[in-house]
Amino acid sequence: MAPREQLEIDPRRSRVFGEVAELYDATRPGYPEPLVREVLAYAALGRRAALEVGAGTGKATVPFAAAGTPLVCIEPDERMADVLRRNTASSPQVQVEVGPFEDWLPSESRSFGLLLAATSWHWLDPERRWDLVHGALAPGGAVALFWNLQGVRDAELHAALAEVDRRHGMANAPHGEPASSFGDVPGNGGAVPGSWPDAECRRDGRFTDLRAHRFRREHHWATDRYVGHLASLSHYRVLAAEQRERLLAGTARVLDAHGGGIAMEQISDLFLARTR
Ligand SMILES: C[S@@+](CC[C@H](N)C(=O)[O-])C[C@H]1O[C@@H](n2cnc3c(N)ncnc32)[C@H](O)[C@@H]1O
Repeated sequence: MAPREQLEIDPRRSRVFGEVAELYDATRPGYPEPLVREVLAYAALGRRAALEVGAGTGKATVPFAAAGTPLVCIEPDERMADVLRRNTASSPQVQVEVGPFEDWLPSESRSFGLLLAATSWHWLDPERRWDLVHGALAPGGAVALFWNLQGVRDAELHAALAEVDRRHGMANAPHGEPASSFGDVPGNGGAVPGSWPDAECRRDGRFTDLRAHRFRREHHWATDRYVGHLASLSHYRVLAAEQRERLLAGTARVLDAHGGGIAMEQISDLFLARTR
């Protein structure tokens, strides 16, 4: 698949998630267990804690916490942080701090064994993010950046959804790619366009042992859950409410006309590196 164009970051989009924090939590997919195991094996944390940036409602936090990982979670939106606190209430080793990563002042810098960013790296200031990561990690500390993406299994459904999106001006719907277009190479044809961190990390030069993994699973989304998931995405949130409602209703009609719901290949791409 040809690389997609660079994502134009609309700063409004990074802060819309809290408008629908509960919907986000109820509909967004989490991350697969093998990904969590891969990250923990790579980081070999020992007694050190992990720092999670843009933790949202805890889609990644919860499985890492369940594995016993001590975590400091940074999340700028108070409404997302409320749900995160609820979702991690049974894990006393999870600490939630509210604010953007760019303003975060660690009490002890260069101490974390792992920095995680799950579907959030692309929202961090591109001019400062590698400095901030480097400043937070202990020597040899790991960085794990990951994203979920999807491919539609049914070609006819894919075409019908593309037609609805064209009519309503939606350019980058998560059902925009057929499952057949995803190869085996992580970062190729996915994540958030233009955000795969490999080139930036190599240019930075302070990291080593770069690795990438792609995890696949199949998932059938019921219509309601899928449409709810769409409504939680930033590029749907920034549409005018009426336009969004028309687009979501049109999408739901197509899904229902094709037997209800949507079968997706769920892909999770993971990027790993460690400080020298
Ligand atoms: C797509 S959500 C991902 C949330 C969660 N990690 C997940 O995988 O579901 C992106 C999150 O990044 C947060 N975010 C946006 N800008 C940020 C920043 N500058 N620093 C830290 N987090 C940020 C948002 O508030 C939101 O919760």
